Amino acid sequence: MAPLEIETDRLRLRPWREGDLDAYAHMCADPEVMRYMPGVMTREQAAEQIARFVRHFEERGHCYWAVEDKVSGAFVGRIGLTHQQDWPEDPHKTDVGWLLDRAYWSRGLATEGAWASLRHGFEELGIERVIGITLPDNLASRRVMEKLGMAYRGEARWKGFDLVWYAIDRREWRADRGSRTGS
Ligand SMILES: CC(C)(COP(=O)(O)OP(=O)(O)OC[C@H]1O[C@@H](n2cnc3c(N)ncnc32)[C@H](O)[C@@H]1OP(=O)(O)O)[C@@H](O)C(=O)NCCC(=O)NCCS
Repeated sequence: MAPLEIETDRLRLRPWREGDLDAYAHMCADPEVMRYMPGVMTREQAAEQIARFVRHFEERGHCYWAVEDKVSGAFVGRIGLTHQQDWPEDPHKTDVGWLLDRAYWSRGLATEGAWASLRHGFEELGIERVIGITLPDNLASRRVMEKLGMAYRGEARWKGFDLVWYAIDRREWRADRGSRTGS
């Protein structure tokens, strides 16, 4: 059975709890964090989103986890795999994504958590390909995808946005790539 939690060197990726809403809503109300997302969210929208993540996990066995600092337990953000049913560019629709509280940027944490998510997807869920989608100007996210070994696949128009997308296949996956990122 798929684990409910994943630990890396510095992070714990775990199911959502009621107590996460304050920190999640705070993060999603930060214009800098949401700069490349459709927009900042109200507390109500953040709560609805958490409920969607929980339902998605129940349906597919994966979704964005809540991410916390392994030592302090502080809320760091969300990282994980989600199914993009209407993604038009590829028959494989499992997307890896990340959104971190600004206090935790530039420490390699998005890469660390995303790497653990890819490993979970390939090794435990048997997913064939994982894609990554972002706005062209989101250079930090593009860099995270490159560090994960994802290859640039091109531009795409989706949900009214001009985007770029990346992908990595299971056969390209090297589990030893991320020894720095822990178990
Ligand atoms: C994108 C985000 C998750 C990155 O998190 P992070 O933990 O800081 O990422 P990492 O430290 O693992 O890696 C970031 C890489 O991008 C690079 N980078 C950061 N800002 C950059 C910029 N403006 N231009 C180019 N590279 C940049 C960093 O130098 C680092 O690369 P390096 O290790 O080669 O030096 C974080 O900035 C975030 O949550 N942003 C807002 C939400 C968002 O845009 N989510 C993605 C939607 S698709």
